Amino acid sequence: MIIEGKKGLVRERIQFWRQQGERIAFVPTMGNLHEGHLTLVKKAKEMGTKVVVSIFVNPMQFNNQNDLNAYPQTLKEDSEKLKDLCVDLVFTPTVQELYPAGSAGITFVETPKLSEMLEGASRPGHFRGVTTIVSKLFHIVQPDIACFGEKDFQQLAILRKMVTDLDFGIEIVGVPIVRGENGLALSSRNGYLTEEQLKIAPNLYEVLSGVVRKVTQGHRDFATLFQDCDTELRKLGFVPDQIEIRDADSLESCSHETKRMVLLAAAWLGKARLIDNIQINCH
Ligand code: PAJ
Repeated sequence: MIIEGKKGLVRERIQFWRQQGERIAFVPTMGNLHEGHLTLVKKAKEMGTKVVVSIFVNPMQFNNQNDLNAYPQTLKEDSEKLKDLCVDLVFTPTVQELYPAGSAGITFVETPKLSEMLEGASRPGHFRGVTTIVSKLFHIVQPDIACFGEKDFQQLAILRKMVTDLDFGIEIVGVPIVRGENGLALSSRNGYLTEEQLKIAPNLYEVLSGVVRKVTQGHRDFATLFQDCDTELRKLGFVPDQIEIRDADSLESCSHETKRMVLLAAAWLGKARLIDNIQINCH
């Protein structure tokens, strides 16, 4: 497994593979890898003949310096996990390598509307940082396929739109959320939870599943459902930030045309802002 931090060398190596007829599958990450990330890597292995993973904690997508500083960096453990999965190349650039002049004032990529709603409203500038870094990584790696998790549902929708709108010519593959046995969606941010909070955290999925059951049974008074859900989560110790049901394709409010809905939630538990979602088919 090649571990390389220089973008020029990564570009050269991958160009060589492409000339050999290899199909490049790419998994961008911020490291601190868990089974969620590794499931993306396994999917990439199924889809391509060479698998490239990037590990880069992207300062441009953090709205808060403390959050950036606290983000766990575990390169040694991550490399071992990727080696076990026979990944071909790990791209580990420094901030200096990707933002030699800093990220303020640089050319950026942004999907209007989609990046301003939901998570974008709570975290201004976050998605601009995501689309800009993913564009940069796509230009360096030039993959045929790239895998992203449905855990970050809005991020996936935004990246699909970016790739379509800007003709990147890369196939975007969405991978279902990987959960622990207790239902908690795996996340690097779960590491911020205390032992006590780790017992409470799975209730988020439990409560959301209750909402989904009601919607599936035909409840359409979403305002009351969200109010009840908010009250229930607060009783458990969460501070809900967002609970919304949207059209899963457009992320707009649901309409008669909606074929698939998605329940999206963000809630604070102690120092961690947990996000989760569940898709709902409309009959
Ligand atoms: P990161 O949070 O490290 O996540 C990397 C990828 O793993 C994303 O596509 C994310 O959706 C996926 N992922 C994380 N937890 C998951 C889970 N429990 N189940 C399924 N997939 C999961 O998302 C980012 O990094 C960054 O924004 C990035 C795209 C790398 C740009 O910096």
